[in-house]
Amino acid sequence: MTALRIGIAGLGTVGAGVVKLLRAQVHAIAARAGRPLIVTAVSARDRTRERGISLEGLIWHDDPLALAADPNVDVVVELIGGAEGMAKTLAEATLAAGKPLVTANKALLATHGAALARAAEAAGTSIGYEAAVAGGIPVIKALREGLAANRVDRVAGILNGTCNYVLTTMREEGRGFADVLADAQTLGYAEADPSFDIDGVDAAHKLAILASLAFGRRIAFSSLHVEGIRNITPLDITFAQEFGYRIKLLGIAARTEDGISMRVHPAMVPLNTPLANVEGVFNAVSLEGDFSGPVFLQGRGAGEGPTASAVVADLIDVARGVRIPVWGMAATALDPAPALPIAQHEGAYFLRLMVVDQPGVLADVMAILRDHGISLASMAQHGRRPGEAVPIVLVTHETREAAVSGALAQIGALESVLEPPALIRIEPQ
Ligand code: HSE
Repeated sequence: MTALRIGIAGLGTVGAGVVKLLRAQVHAIAARAGRPLIVTAVSARDRTRERGISLEGLIWHDDPLALAADPNVDVVVELIGGAEGMAKTLAEATLAAGKPLVTANKALLATHGAALARAAEAAGTSIGYEAAVAGGIPVIKALREGLAANRVDRVAGILNGTCNYVLTTMREEGRGFADVLADAQTLGYAEADPSFDIDGVDAAHKLAILASLAFGRRIAFSSLHVEGIRNITPLDITFAQEFGYRIKLLGIAARTEDGISMRVHPAMVPLNTPLANVEGVFNAVSLEGDFSGPVFLQGRGAGEGPTASAVVADLIDVARGVRIPVWGMAATALDPAPALPIAQHEGAYFLRLMVVDQPGVLADVMAILRDHGISLASMAQHGRRPGEAVPIVLVTHETREAAVSGALAQIGALESVLEPPALIRIEPQ
């Protein structure tokens, strides 16, 4: 049978990994795909860089766009990255040429996924993006195919390995955020711009993709609520343990009575749940289908091997002639409603205050909570230092976020409250 001829744009860690994987497993992949998969053409910035792969016999294009037009290329793999610029232009040109696109580019899909899906459908071709979310975990396949018969009510994931590494190491070694982040950068976990990781943007790109698939919604990145982990302190981590939680950066999309909630933020996760025990650079996704019941996937979210594994799985689908709607259904059938505003979120909250240890402070705080209709489940104070700063933790019962933020604005303005209060949402699993 005729080979599937692959053009790769971007020969960084992942691109070189895809070439290595296709060569290492050449026979098994051909058997599974029913035809050989061969790389015919590549494009990257620097032809001479040492990548651990031979480029002999491959067509080299200085301009990645040439891959879309090259008659020796049946499918284009976009590994350039970024939501705009060449990645977007190449994706559009590939689809316009009627060729399938395989990409690891979460920012591109989260930002332009609706338009790209329309372009793919108009051209009668497909977009494979297993590598865009949680690297080696086949979560796109799980949602788009394996769970296609279900109504999904909730998706919750640890979608950024850098943040999970930082939070895990802070807890295990009792170190501060900035110190541990520097390690993560040295180890090469963080994105080129680490703020994408630690401010939650990378996880939000991935959540937008998962939410679109899970709930049949037009991708709506700008309506997500996004917070990162910069403000998490060792003190919060210690209190979390005391209350039976672990702090994780979660991406959550859930069906509520008022609409679909989509948010990325640090969360208190009960210690006895699977997500709480996903540590270090590992990613995980917890799904709930109405007929399937709970499904839990865990694995490596980044790196050469896991990401190449996901890219090649998509290429095998292309070789087999599998074509699934980009977002699991026709682009025109997707619901365009934005995510629920965070002010409408209902849940329990962990609130930490730094207050002056003096009579009446707690009474003032309690009065404000009472005035906002917020009921407390428990509280703790560590230490006794009359006239000095002490931390106080308050855990609320289920309440609406608008009430909590109103109360915190007033509490933060009290003279006896020395720092802006910390708020961490509690997520039941
Ligand atoms: N920088 C990402 C992470 C990996 O730390 O999980 C690629 O999405």
